[in-house]
Amino acid sequence: MGVYTLAELTSIKKELSNLLPADARDRLVRGRLSTTIQRKAESVQLNRFRQKVFLTDAQSVRGSGRVYPYVDEAELLVNYIEMHGYHTAADVIVDLCCGCGHVIIGCPAEVTGVLRFGLDINPRALQFAEINALINESSAVFQLGDIRCGIPAAFHRLQVKNFLFSANMPFGLDPSAFLPISTSSDERGTRLTLATLKGLKDFTEHLVPGRTGRAVVLAYSLQSQAIYDVVEHAYAIFGPERVRWNLLEHERVWRVNGVKQCRNPMPLDNLTLKAESRYDVDEARREEARASYAALVQRLRAHGYTHLSMGILDIRL
Ligand SMILES: C[S@@+](CC[C@H](N)C(=O)[O-])C[C@H]1O[C@@H](n2cnc3c(N)ncnc32)[C@H](O)[C@@H]1O
Repeated sequence: MGVYTLAELTSIKKELSNLLPADARDRLVRGRLSTTIQRKAESVQLNRFRQKVFLTDAQSVRGSGRVYPYVDEAELLVNYIEMHGYHTAADVIVDLCCGCGHVIIGCPAEVTGVLRFGLDINPRALQFAEINALINESSAVFQLGDIRCGIPAAFHRLQVKNFLFSANMPFGLDPSAFLPISTSSDERGTRLTLATLKGLKDFTEHLVPGRTGRAVVLAYSLQSQAIYDVVEHAYAIFGPERVRWNLLEHERVWRVNGVKQCRNPMPLDNLTLKAESRYDVDEARREEARASYAALVQRLRAHGYTHLSMGILDIRL
């Protein structure tokens, strides 16, 4: 399948920017895609979320530059933010891994003038995000960034009082780099979540008095009885009094072929389901994937882990 290159996405953006946003949206929604998009229409999909539409890579797109196609996790984050009214208190909202912009564009604005920024390591994601900002008339601004280098210091110079950060870093629990997205995956899957927590901590250390911050991080965690690996890290970094872990008990986890397969928390044995995913694993590597995931389960069990859990870390910065 032909996937849009960065240059092609830029030209789609240019083409759509010559239309009124409503017309551009209308074209995309009715399948009367722009002429450029029609050429590889099977490689993109339109998600609908909060009366907005989002163009992104199709689920079946493969390769390291694939842009995250799913909207359900953004919905969890935005619902959580809204339930607590965090968006109403914030002067600036920063999504540290914005993908095509589901969270940063989809988060409602009850107060006008809230600044919105999306950072992401994937330049193709940022092109999609800019297209989506254009068609949804969002003022969000996007910037290339790698959370492993921290949160850009430029945010300290903003003349704002209340920061709200969101993140949903890739959970790259991946024994041998099978997964399609550039996740810098690791055996525990948490490397990027931990980099996010560290970046947030560094950021708060330079917060001038009178400014406040909150971070809402969707995270997966290995679990051993009632101990959650990622939460323990967050407690150690910020202090337990600043961290709240909200286990998303009624959600499903562990996406295989685009569908989350298991109840949350999920027994570790189910990790091996990923080896059967046609979206994630090439047929030629199927047997290798099965053996790798099975061995990974054994190693994690040997460390005392029994389950994988998904939740939201709510951190007062
Ligand atoms: C699970 S997706 C979430 C995307 C988006 N928030 C959404 O809901 O559609 C994770 C995103 O993190 C980005 N990412 C991966 N590594 C990163 C890094 N080191 N720094 C910043 N973003 C990264 C990926 O490109 C991807 O867009």
